[in-house]
Amino acid sequence: MHGEAIAGIVDRVIARYRRDSTCMVQILREVQEACDWIPPEAIDRIQAVLGVARAEIESVAGFYSFLYLQPRGRYRILFSDNITDRMQGSEALLEQLCRSLWVEPGKVSEDGLLSIDRTSCTGMCDQGPGMLVNNRAITRLTAVRIEQIAELVRNQRPLNEWPAEFFDVADHIRRADILLDQPMQPGDALRAARERVPSDGLIASNMRSWREGLPSGIGGPAAMLDEIKRANLRGRGGAGFMTGLKWEACRNAPLKAGQQRIIVCNADEGEPGTFKDRVLLGSYADQVFEGMTAAAYAIGAQRGFLYLRGEYRYLLDALNATLNARRKANLLGRDILGIPGADFDIDIHLGAGAYVCGEESALIESLEGKRGTPRNRPPFPVTNGYLDQPTIVNNVETFAAVALIALKGGDWYAAFGTRHSAGTKLLSVSGDCARPGIYEYPYGVTVRQVLEDCGASDTQAVQISGPSGICLSEAEFDRAIGFEDIPTAGAFTVFDRSRDMFEVARAYVHFFQHESCGFCTPCRVGTSLLKKLMDKLHDGHGSPYDLGEIEKLDKLLQSMSHCGLGHTAGNPVIDTIARFRPAYEKRMVHDQFVPAFDLDRALSTARQMTGRDDSQAHLDVEQGRSA
Ligand SMILES: Cc1cc2nc3c(=O)[nH]c(=O)nc-3n(C[C@H](O)[C@H](O)[C@H](O)COP(=O)(O)O)c2cc1C
Ligand code: SF4
Repeated sequence: MHGEAIAGIVDRVIARYRRDSTCMVQILREVQEACDWIPPEAIDRIQAVLGVARAEIESVAGFYSFLYLQPRGRYRILFSDNITDRMQGSEALLEQLCRSLWVEPGKVSEDGLLSIDRTSCTGMCDQGPGMLVNNRAITRLTAVRIEQIAELVRNQRPLNEWPAEFFDVADHIRRADILLDQPMQPGDALRAARERVPSDGLIASNMRSWREGLPSGIGGPAAMLDEIKRANLRGRGGAGFMTGLKWEACRNAPLKAGQQRIIVCNADEGEPGTFKDRVLLGSYADQVFEGMTAAAYAIGAQRGFLYLRGEYRYLLDALNATLNARRKANLLGRDILGIPGADFDIDIHLGAGAYVCGEESALIESLEGKRGTPRNRPPFPVTNGYLDQPTIVNNVETFAAVALIALKGGDWYAAFGTRHSAGTKLLSVSGDCARPGIYEYPYGVTVRQVLEDCGASDTQAVQISGPSGICLSEAEFDRAIGFEDIPTAGAFTVFDRSRDMFEVARAYVHFFQHESCGFCTPCRVGTSLLKKLMDKLHDGHGSPYDLGEIEKLDKLLQSMSHCGLGHTAGNPVIDTIARFRPAYEKRMVHDQFVPAFDLDRALSTARQMTGRDDSQAHLDVEQGRSA
């Protein structure tokens, strides 16, 4: 592609984003979709048109693993590398494809046709192994399917000519409860919210919201917030913060001139093993958007964003179609439901392969077109969020629950679940079980019940809430899902007795090291050292000394890291050492410290080259010198 054509592409993309440099991630992503990578000429043009320094553009592009500053091939194949993909044989399939197409993992083929690499979990654990080809998800890989893919690539068949069933993504809803089983038409929840009368206590603070100052004296917004508080709704994204309190803080935050309140739906869903937001956005998108609009109604927001992880690019067209249908039905846009001044609309922003962008302040940075580096807090997003405006960030499932609460009321909702964990929770169940998929339970369900329902047998461990969560052994299967006992963002990964829990923890440690954004030293260096220690144990150089080092590193990560990624990066190791110590002990072949680097082994190439393999050509390991 020559310079003029590239400049034309860049100009069109930039015009679509109204020359707004806060859309830098979207601009770079779309330029890449057209050019297969981001060539230097494209950066020159972006710099010239937007007046953003070249170094800054490159620094943003360099942050995201799905943005390429070097050519990556016309077919860019990424194998999902979650532990469940590995359990289903992804590594052998990757090797098969590399052999078949004569390309090394991580490299571009000599003719520039393709590249094959690994990426973190693509959110298809219930139908793995999975891969992305040019950002499109392919599920249920088998040796036969890999051969077909090799043939299609060799023949350079465009993706839209590939068999449609390759791209099938099933919902696998195995258990539905109040959230997934509630028939709801677009607009139902909003109409119910509008008609609700506020409770006394809220009327006084009623003037800050969307339409509360209207002559009609509509009280719906305050009543909506009241229902969320009565429902005791807690965020479903992991931390479980009270949704009503968050919204109230945002609603009460003062606005400076020209500012507005912002609603962000966090659909980054990067925690390995989680895929329930994928299902909500695939089959319940209206309900999620309705929840966002109800939130806008309650706090008086006029602008909303859905931050969709890049791995779910395949959902984008359908989501935009749902948004358009809602605009036509007057459920988005100006004067929603005929209420004068009720203006709210939603834009979709695609992420580009960075797990840390699920952290709300990193997500906001990314929405502003920057590297996804978590911010210092306070100030919190509720007062100083997107472009310094009051912003609420909630998980996809939280917004789906909001729509249900708007429709049925807070007291109704709070009657489900337990005292401190109202309502239901979606679990993404995968791993060693007969029926992986989505299970919706009232909070309080035991781990044992879930295992029984999903057809798990001979289970030795369950990892709840992904690598950053908790690993439970059999003795703890009567514990309950809920904020009182085991909080979770939703991942429920099952391991039977054939699995080596040391290797599970090692895979998770690799994940954290790969996803650390590198901003703060404790996490950047700590996750690297942790990975090296786990690899050392794996390679047979471990001693009790190394376990001590792991524990020290975990304390450092927990206490010194800048964000939640670093705080939890040691969890999988600490949990498995506590519960599956024999898996570590069998790797402790030495009583005393042994260096990870094996000099004698490293010299084997030299021995081969010189044709010597006698005792004089080996190191005396005990003495650390030549024998
Ligand atoms: C490293 C990291 C990744 C996160 N990823 C997500 C995510 O993918 N989705 C999500 O909703 N929350 C994620 N969170 C939590 C968010 O920061 C935030 O608490 C959440 O979106 C708030 O929504 P909620 O109150 O509805 O739970 C992540 C946090 C951290 C530290
Ligand atoms: S803890 Fe890790 S992910 Fe978080 S800011 Fe520091 S380096 Fe980045």
